[in-house]
Amino acid sequence: MTATTSKILLGVNVDHCATVRQARYRSHPRDFGQEVEPDPVEFALLCEQAGADGITIHLREDRRHVQDSDVRRARDQIKTRLNLEMACTPAMVEYALELKPDSVCLVPESREEITTEGGLDIVKNKSRIAAVIEAMTDAGITTSLFIDPDPRQIRASAEIVSPWIELHTGAYANAYYGEGREAEIKILQEGAKLAHSLGLVVNAGHGINYTNITEVLTIPHLHELNIGHTIVSRALFVGVEQAVREMKAFLV
Ligand code: PXP
Repeated sequence: MTATTSKILLGVNVDHCATVRQARYRSHPRDFGQEVEPDPVEFALLCEQAGADGITIHLREDRRHVQDSDVRRARDQIKTRLNLEMACTPAMVEYALELKPDSVCLVPESREEITTEGGLDIVKNKSRIAAVIEAMTDAGITTSLFIDPDPRQIRASAEIVSPWIELHTGAYANAYYGEGREAEIKILQEGAKLAHSLGLVVNAGHGINYTNITEVLTIPHLHELNIGHTIVSRALFVGVEQAVREMKAFLV
């Protein structure tokens, strides 16, 4: 399916479709009377049909939502771009090199890797992350680093020549109805400017919804937004394709 061109790309994160499935069918085999629903891959295909530019899936080490078989089926069936969110561990690196997604987004899963806001701590884990970027690049996989909009993390990402970063918008989203909102959007705007000036491709994600998207779009130099929970939620009421189309309408 060819995606329509938009200025900022929409990557749909399908993890929370899997969350709904796991809430009921955690211990059932996938072919249990064909009733194991909802299927995040079917969800992803509908997103593509509605114009999503890519699909993001996070295979967590605890397998709390997405399962290995989801990722394999997604790799086989997705026609746009598959972005695998993953921890920066040897097991996951090996997994990704074998799977060959179009891109990986490295996210923190252990306490030592996490910054106060929740992004990956590049400053503290520079050489380990640089080695992963190199291995991915050699395999033709683009790496993105999920980081706070903190100038130190942005500079460290540029120093290890990460092709992409994904700015963590969670602190902004959490502050949306509070006093910190103005400051948080400014931090993201300044962070994006700095990243762009250092040659990084700037993506953003976490907690973006149909309300805060308007202000999120004031962040300059955005290449792609990765959005999940709000689209899965809206899909319950209007259907998957309509939910994606409504989000895409903000981005053209
Ligand atoms: N980007 C990253 C790196 C994430 O970890 C998540 C959450 O899984 C998202 C984007 C999407 O966040 P949300 O589901 O809040 O839209």
